[in-house]
Amino acid sequence: MKYNLKILRRKSQEDSPYWQTFELETDLAEATAATALTLLNQREPLLTADGHPARKILWDCSCLQKKCGACAMVICGRPQLACNVRLSEIKEKCITIEPLRKFPVIADLIVDRSILFRNLMTIESWLTEDTEASEDKDGILYEASRCLQCGCCLEICPNFYAGSSFFGMASMVPVSRLLEELPRDKKKELKKAYRKHVYSGCGKSLACRDICPAGIDMEKLLVNSNAVALWKWFF
Ligand code: SF4
Ligand code: SF4
Ligand code: FES
Repeated sequence: MKYNLKILRRKSQEDSPYWQTFELETDLAEATAATALTLLNQREPLLTADGHPARKILWDCSCLQKKCGACAMVICGRPQLACNVRLSEIKEKCITIEPLRKFPVIADLIVDRSILFRNLMTIESWLTEDTEASEDKDGILYEASRCLQCGCCLEICPNFYAGSSFFGMASMVPVSRLLEELPRDKKKELKKAYRKHVYSGCGKSLACRDICPAGIDMEKLLVNSNAVALWKWFF
C-alpha cells in the first residue's frame, strides 16, 4: 500500500511551523502511524515527496502498545495514539499528522504535557497510604486507574487550555478514584478542589466521551464524582 503523509514540522519552540509531505510504501498490513514515522526515520537520507532533504521526524513513544499515552498526536484532525491508528483504516488520501494543539510544542510532534502533572499536584491527587488494587473490573476504582495522561480528552475539550483553572477529564478521571475511595473525613479538601478545577468549568456536554483511546467510561466517572463532590450530606 502507498500512503501520503503530511506532517506539521517545527524545529524548536521558537521556529515557525511548516508542512512536509512524505510518501511511504509498505506491505505491513498492521502498519500504524507509529510504524510510518519509524520507517520514515530509518531512511538515509530522508527525502520529502518532492525530493527535498528533511530532518528526522521528532516524536514521542515508549510502549507502542496503547499503554503509555506518549504518542498522542492529531491524526487526520482527531487526537489519537499513533500506535493505535492503522494506516489501512484511514479513508483520507493524504494522512495529516500534527502535534497536540493544547500544549506548547517542543519540536515536530513532541509537546510539553507537564501541565497535566502540575494540575494533578494542584488538586493533590495522590495516595498517602498503601491501598489494595481493585479486582472489580466494572468498578469506579479500576476504571479511574486506566488513564494514560495522554491529553486527547483535553485536545477536544472547548473549555480547557493550558494554565486555566479548569483541569478537564485528565484530572477528573484519576481524582474520581480518590473521591470514591477515601473515607468521608479525609476528602473535604479534595472535594473543594474538584468543585473548583473540574465541576465549575465543565460544560458536561461530554464531547470528550468518545475520544479517550483507553475507552474510559467518562460518563460513569463524572456522574459519580459530581455526586460525591456536591452532595455533601450523603458522601
Ligand atoms: S464534558 Fe465538555 S467541558 Fe467537560 S471535559 Fe468533556 S468536553 Fe470538556
Ligand atoms: S481520560 Fe482518556 S483521553 Fe483523557 S488523558 Fe486519560 S486516557 Fe487520555
Ligand atoms: S507509544 Fe505508548 S501509547 Fe503509543
